[in-house]
Amino acid sequence: MRYSRIIGTGSALPEKVVTNHDLEKILDTSDTWIRERTGICERRIAADDQTTCDLAEEACRQVFERTGIDPQSIDLVVVGTTTPDLIFPSTACLLQHRLGMTECGAFDVNAACSGFIYALSVADKFIRTGSIKRALVVGAETLTRMVDWSDRGTAVLFADGAGVVILEASDEPGILSTHIHANGGHADLLCADVGVSKGFKPGEPNAGVKVFMTGNEVFKVAVRTLGRIVDETLEANNMEKSDIDWLIPHQANLRIIQATAKKLNMPMERVIVTVHKHGNTSSASVPLALDEAVTSGQVKRGENLLLEAFGGGFTWGSALIKY
Ligand code: ACO
Repeated sequence: MRYSRIIGTGSALPEKVVTNHDLEKILDTSDTWIRERTGICERRIAADDQTTCDLAEEACRQVFERTGIDPQSIDLVVVGTTTPDLIFPSTACLLQHRLGMTECGAFDVNAACSGFIYALSVADKFIRTGSIKRALVVGAETLTRMVDWSDRGTAVLFADGAGVVILEASDEPGILSTHIHANGGHADLLCADVGVSKGFKPGEPNAGVKVFMTGNEVFKVAVRTLGRIVDETLEANNMEKSDIDWLIPHQANLRIIQATAKKLNMPMERVIVTVHKHGNTSSASVPLALDEAVTSGQVKRGENLLLEAFGGGFTWGSALIKY
């Protein structure tokens, strides 16, 4: 049986730290409200000249340095992002060129906060079917570029960053299964409602690109949906809740993370939490958390990891991995 295995991780965060107290100065909000409702204490915001591809490149250079793998040996680049540098070339193409790779396939996946899980799922399939041997799978975002800084309901949540894994073909189990889903019927609850075909809003800051979200409704759907995908993932692998060693969730809200952990009967000590310092980095959040889990020595080879995410679309997904 052919599997794909994670053979390295990397990450990058902007230098600029914005605390809840900083946001108190520009919004009708408080550190207490943000901490209690979301778990976020601070977040990183990209510099004015720092793009999604810059963050992705930094994360990728780190994983190549750590693993000693030659970028030329990569057969496919998949980038999960909702905030590409350009409409085209894709961020994956820009990244491929910057890293000195030639002619391997490269494309972006837009699944909002589930972007990395979608990208991982696609790359895993390419490896399992024998089409390729190595893939660079990235989640990278500068979501703060489309935050409405006058909307306290969203401005306190989002942040920037990038994370990456290198996947390699192996006879040993690695990614055991991936599961992706979408329900396109809820754009009214979570969207950025401008674009090339529908049109931008000239005269408005950033051409009117901003995130709209009915947070409390999204919250309820997220908790219900993530509970369902946990069941689906365990069933597909004939596993019990107790077989999972670590939950590595999308970092949108500590209360959503706690609800999923409860569903798994999992103590919070077995859950990787970075939302307090990273905020919601959309596609970057799961690979950032995974990189932290690996580099801190918490996650060990042979352990079972459950990755999951939920985001705009709605999209959601999971990956069960024997690390
Ligand atoms: N500071 C102070 N008060 C605030 C703030 C703020 N930053 N934001 C909202 N409030 C107020 C509201 O106006 C409301 O006031 P009211 O009672 O007087 O009307 C009150 O707080 C409660 O608002 P709710 O929206 O009901 O608060 P809730 O507890 O649901 O928390 C939050 C809001 C944090 C957004 C939560 O609903 C959430 O995390 N939702 C899910 C987000 C998510 O997972 N999104 C998907 C991924 S994102 C993507 O794909 C791009």
